[in-house]
Amino acid sequence: MGNRMQDKIIIVTGAASGLGKATMELMVAEGGTVVAADVNADPGAAIAAAAGAEFVQTDVADSAAVDRLVSGVVERYGRLDVMVNNAGVFGGSPLIDAPNEEVDRMVGVNILGAFYGTRAAGRVMAAQGSGAIVNTASNGGSLPTEGMAFYSGSKAAVIGMSKACAIELAPKGVRVNTLSPGTMLSGMVPPDPEFIKVLHGIQPIGYAADPAQMATGILYLASDEADYVTGHDLVVDGGATAGRTAIKGAK
Ligand SMILES: NC(=O)c1ccc[n+]([C@@H]2O[C@H](COP(=O)([O-])OP(=O)(O)OC[C@H]3O[C@@H](n4cnc5c(N)ncnc54)[C@H](O)[C@@H]3O)[C@@H](O)[C@H]2O)c1
Repeated sequence: MGNRMQDKIIIVTGAASGLGKATMELMVAEGGTVVAADVNADPGAAIAAAAGAEFVQTDVADSAAVDRLVSGVVERYGRLDVMVNNAGVFGGSPLIDAPNEEVDRMVGVNILGAFYGTRAAGRVMAAQGSGAIVNTASNGGSLPTEGMAFYSGSKAAVIGMSKACAIELAPKGVRVNTLSPGTMLSGMVPPDPEFIKVLHGIQPIGYAADPAQMATGILYLASDEADYVTGHDLVVDGGATAGRTAIKGAK
């Protein structure tokens, strides 16, 4: 493919599936040296090896594990240029029934995971005077979905945290942005053809995305082409949150 990640040392979390896998593959195709991290070593390690990436089993909800991931990369490669905090979990219980375990998991992985990764990478990148951090949020973070109270809230937290970090780290040469996907056919979506048909219909563009169509957004934000872009939430959702559809019967 291209060489937009040539000479760059990159970490991608949640790389065993979906958007993380697609991002890892695209970063390698663009000439990057990629360290893939996932809590799931089987099949994560094999998927990373097939893509030409190193694999480090990491639970992003564990701050010490995230610090080890980042310090290990700096020990082996001497620097860290791009950190993609992408690992996430979904929980769709209605507010009234939401069990603590589901909420705690989303706090741990979606919010704290993104924060720990941003902090660990931010320390290294601030010291080296350069770097790009991309955190995966969701279009639900800016336009919440009924029945997804905490998932939407966790992604709003990722967007807000990333913007605050962008301001803090800009003078140190470090950019922080979010990619907010719309509906994507990944490991997060149950393989139910009827449900998938519904998902295809909820964005004006007429179909739910392949994760590879989101990975290009992450590539852009991570690349030097975006060297003046920081504190931005890049929504890639087929128009799902662009506005309302026509009011049927309106005169
Ligand atoms: N699928 C969608 O429609 C959609 C929409 C908007 C945002 N997102 C976001 O995109 C990101 C990627 O999700 P996906 O759709 O590719 O889902 P996915 O389930 O295919 O992939 C998520 C990956 O994260 C890993 N993971 C989960 N918990 C982890 C932990 N504690 N530590 C490390 N890795 C962990 C999983 O093992 C998996 O490999 C997530 O942040 C998700 O919230 C997804």
